[in-house]
Amino acid sequence: MKVAIIGQGYVGLTISVFAGEFFEVIGFDSNQKIVDQLNNGISHIEGVDSLILRNRIKAGQYKATALASDLSDADVVVIAVPTPLTKDRQPDLAFLDAACKSVGENIKNPVLVINESTSFPGTLRDFIKPSIEKYSTSKIEHLYAISPERVDPGRGDYNQKNTPRLYAGLTPEASTKTREFYSKFCDELVEVSSPEVAEAAKLFENTFRQVNIALVNEFAQIAHSLGISVYETLDAANTKPYGFMKFTPSAGVGGHCIPVDPTYLAAVAEEHGAPATFIRRANEVNLEMSKYVVDRVQADNGGSLAGKTALVVGVAYKPNVADVRETAAELVIEHLRNRGAVVSWHDDIVGSWNGETSSPLSGADIALVVTKHDDVKERDILASAPYVFDTTGKVSGAKGL
Ligand SMILES: NC(=O)c1ccc[n+]([C@@H]2O[C@H](COP(=O)([O-])OP(=O)(O)OC[C@H]3O[C@@H](n4cnc5c(N)ncnc54)[C@H](O)[C@@H]3O)[C@@H](O)[C@H]2O)c1
Repeated sequence: MKVAIIGQGYVGLTISVFAGEFFEVIGFDSNQKIVDQLNNGISHIEGVDSLILRNRIKAGQYKATALASDLSDADVVVIAVPTPLTKDRQPDLAFLDAACKSVGENIKNPVLVINESTSFPGTLRDFIKPSIEKYSTSKIEHLYAISPERVDPGRGDYNQKNTPRLYAGLTPEASTKTREFYSKFCDELVEVSSPEVAEAAKLFENTFRQVNIALVNEFAQIAHSLGISVYETLDAANTKPYGFMKFTPSAGVGGHCIPVDPTYLAAVAEEHGAPATFIRRANEVNLEMSKYVVDRVQADNGGSLAGKTALVVGVAYKPNVADVRETAAELVIEHLRNRGAVVSWHDDIVGSWNGETSSPLSGADIALVVTKHDDVKERDILASAPYVFDTTGKVSGAKGL
């Protein structure tokens, strides 16, 4: 069986490697540079081992392509393309539409189309199916299913095999075929009654995280105003064996999921006349954290940052990955610069970003830790500036939330 996977990023490449153990995989990506790199056996995604990729290529089980016509003889098509927000923070389905165009224009036989991209309830039924049909030159009855992706890049304990996978087809036949496909490489499959339930569950999982992160970020501000330690208070609350789940404060949330997915849920809620007040406010609280952090740094430094050299330590959105999408570091840097600080950043995993490169971890007036990668030593951070503010809770001896 031939499986075409559209989008070879965090989700698509990860799935390609797992599925490639059992099926012949065509990894379709519109970015030719990524395709060339992959065909040379080089993975650009943390958690996808280049050695495994090379083994799949050698065994004829994996090939990357930028040619949409290579999709034509697939039996199963998995869509794993970005679902970001537009400039005015509305759901942006342009990448999904382009993926549907590639399927519609190139696949002439009935196949199983599975969407793994995160989007609002109704996307499979009311957007993907009609979109593929719109682009098809002949009338073909494909099978359609959703299986929202839960991968957490860089995570060691949970992967595609041992993370339970939700799925639902538009028809019973689509559900059965989807189960057959994933059961090769996933231990636990959970069928739900409709694609809309699966789509909503994925959004609610990430909304749950977004709201709880906002709550703990607000609580960090309350704890500081009360003169108590937020971390000690959270540890104390966490001794309760039930009814509490610990989240930790930060400079804000980043990545392609937590700052984005809840807005998809809010948008569809409001379209249906339902309130999304928690979701909207949580988003604001998380976005405002960068300003709060810089306010604290400014207050500790005589009320002015003008002319001070500030080093932002860690610009990836989370530890041990190079992903800078929606990173809180961007807003932190913007606030520092708006107040006249001379800003550089240190992150050797990211390397280069926004036309700038990682600076040495030393010689600043102020160091502000946004993300602490495991291989960046606490003592090196503390030695990098006379004043260190840590938003991660991982640098003991520094000022912090
Ligand atoms: N990154 C995560 O941790 C994660 C986790 C769960 C779900 N998701 C969801 O999975 C989806 C994909 O996210 P990602 O992180 O893998 O994105 P990504 O940006 O890492 O990868 C997407 C890839 O798709 C390619 N692409 C874009 N449009 C294309 C098209 N029309 N045809 C072919 N290739 C195209 C891009 O070049 C890119 O390589 C999103 O909906 C996201 O919300 C992501």
